Amino acid sequence: MSRLTTKLQRLVFKISPHLAIALGVEFPLKSANRKFLEGEIFDYLNAFFTQQEQPAKCLFLGTDKRSWHYPRCLAAKVFTLDIEPKKAVYGNRGHHTIGSAAELEKHYPSASFDVVIANGLIGFGMNQEQDCEALLRASHAVLKAGGLLLMGYNDGAEFVNFKVREAKHYQLFEEVAPNHKALTRAQYDFDDHIFVFLKKRNHP
Ligand SMILES: C[S@@+](CC[C@H](N)C(=O)[O-])C[C@H]1O[C@@H](n2cnc3c(N)ncnc32)[C@H](O)[C@@H]1O
Repeated sequence: MSRLTTKLQRLVFKISPHLAIALGVEFPLKSANRKFLEGEIFDYLNAFFTQQEQPAKCLFLGTDKRSWHYPRCLAAKVFTLDIEPKKAVYGNRGHHTIGSAAELEKHYPSASFDVVIANGLIGFGMNQEQDCEALLRASHAVLKAGGLLLMGYNDGAEFVNFKVREAKHYQLFEEVAPNHKALTRAQYDFDDHIFVFLKKRNHP
């Protein structure tokens, strides 16, 4: 995409995010893990959404320019949440909440989502062990029985001083391989960024 097109897209977004949606404006990142998220992972999640008996609901945590178009990529009713008021502009219009991913029960009924996507929070703001525990606990609370938590995180020593897999509340979930097309493992590593598919345990 030319620099002029990018500039024009930014200008349209600044003037009217609503118009930008209508024009299909996107600001995607080109990294390998982003392509994987937007390609293989979203393809699987969309298949998962269509298997649900009720119209599917998805909660996307942490909003940014790069993920602003995601509600248009996902075949579910998408709710977004970010702790930073200034990030609300990248939330899903009419379905965005300013709040903490550590306190999801304050904002949503329990057992109300088929999928929670928590990409880029651990290592990018939720950097204490207790943040990780709270994120896992709160995601478990708002997921329906059999619901999925898709985590994308960086827990290398340069980001945080704990390991996500060793969190106490990790036991609220089981790692599951989607077994959808090329997705045959529960975990995929992209250098320091890890994706893991976690299924809610109903009786941990
Ligand atoms: C690296 S961005 C990732 C955005 C998005 N999830 C994505 O995949 O592109 C991290 C975002 O998480 C938000 N964030 C950090 N701590 C949070 C918390 N406790 N609750 C909700 N959002 C938080 C930040 O404000 C920031 O917008």
